[in-house]
Amino acid sequence: MNETVKNLVTRKSCNSYKPMHVPKKDIEDIVAAGLNAPSGMNKQTPRFVVVQDEETVAKLSKLNADVGHFPIDPFYGAKDVIVVLAKKEVTYIYDGSLAMGNLMNAAWSMGIDSRWIHRAKEVFESAEGKQLLAEWGITDDVEGIGFCILGYAAEEKEKTEINPGRVFYV
Ligand SMILES: Cc1cc2nc3c(=O)[nH]c(=O)nc-3n(C[C@H](O)[C@H](O)[C@H](O)COP(=O)(O)O)c2cc1C
Repeated sequence: MNETVKNLVTRKSCNSYKPMHVPKKDIEDIVAAGLNAPSGMNKQTPRFVVVQDEETVAKLSKLNADVGHFPIDPFYGAKDVIVVLAKKEVTYIYDGSLAMGNLMNAAWSMGIDSRWIHRAKEVFESAEGKQLLAEWGITDDVEGIGFCILGYAAEEKEKTEINPGRVFYV
């Protein structure tokens, strides 16, 4: 198994983060991986919003929790978040999802933990979410795809069992 595949099979989602930021230069490399994800008809629909500002991370966490009716921080204390949105054209949901995968796998290749947090669609359909998009200067008609939370595991991550019977060779 080469190093790239090893990286893919050892990435695991993290739900407990040390209270520290990921350096900006590492975030820039992670974003480069997202930007280079393939997209249907090369429409390059995904948009990336890097949020490292504490107040905005807290606001996004609250909006997310409100959608899910959660009593907890849905970002698990992570200090950095990359919001992935996609311009509503052709294969945008697939494009955005693939970009999310690139972000998480690139992060792990650098020893940085991550997790996909959902409900971005609902968050950015809300009035407060739309207000944030306007503040961020995003004028395209976009849909929220996911929140890629980033950081360093505070506790050992759970090992995911891979279900058998999912591969067919013909
Ligand atoms: C589309 C999608 C949505 C997800 N939404 C959430 C979420 O809202 N909250 C969460 O804690 N984890 C979320 N996850 C992470 C999954 O729970 C996690 O990927 C799954 O348990 C498998 O674990 P692994 O990533 O370690 O293999 C999501 C993952 C995907 C792909």
